Amino acid sequence: MSTKTPDLHAAYALESPEDHKRLYAEWAGDYDEGFAAREDYQLHVHTARAFVSAGGQGPVLDVGAGTGLCGAVLAGLGVGPIDATDISTDMLDRAMRKDIYRDAIEADLNQGIPVPRESYSGVVSSGTFTHGHLGPEALSALLRVARHGAQFALSINAQHYEKLGFAEALHKMAQGQIQNLSLTEVPIYGDLAAGPNKNDTALIALFERV
Ligand SMILES: C[S@@+](CC[C@H](N)C(=O)[O-])C[C@H]1O[C@@H](n2cnc3c(N)ncnc32)[C@H](O)[C@@H]1O
Repeated sequence: MSTKTPDLHAAYALESPEDHKRLYAEWAGDYDEGFAAREDYQLHVHTARAFVSAGGQGPVLDVGAGTGLCGAVLAGLGVGPIDATDISTDMLDRAMRKDIYRDAIEADLNQGIPVPRESYSGVVSSGTFTHGHLGPEALSALLRVARHGAQFALSINAQHYEKLGFAEALHKMAQGQIQNLSLTEVPIYGDLAAGPNKNDTALIALFERV
């Protein structure tokens, strides 16, 4: 195990599923009080609020749920039930301790999600469509588990959006698979952030499954 505390820089450089499991196993215990508190992380709040403002309802799947920050905001806004899915057992363990999720589903999203088709009326994701993590090819697995009319609120790191061709992927999906697509740029961190990424932004993609 590395002696260095994992950080965003290391997370952005991840390549394989094994890299993800290893880094997040080390990061899980410190993620909320270390990274999220120190960097005044706000993306989970923007994502959850956007979902609720768009009329999103449960059952909801929180994709790349991590330690459950987005789910906690959703639950506080009265949304439920919420399931958490993530590649990292250790992050999911932390999430389940918060007592907000109905179920934890360990899965590599690039390989699909082991739940029946059309299980969810809502899908949220904060901080997982980002550098070194998930690209647009993961979106089809989310459509499969969403019901007709399901509301999506997905944060996508703005630089990652440009680099990985999310615009094209969403445009294709808008030809019959999704509707009412909107993109709103939000800051990932608050005023207290001090790290090199403090001014980074994300796009919140809101849309509905047709
Ligand atoms: C930066 S964290 C975000 C966690 C949480 N949503 C938040 O906003 O704090 C990214 C999460 O994505 C998960 N992840 C990375 N690659 C994944 C994959 N291929 N499938 C599912 N989850 C993945 C990681 O384990 C980690 O918990």
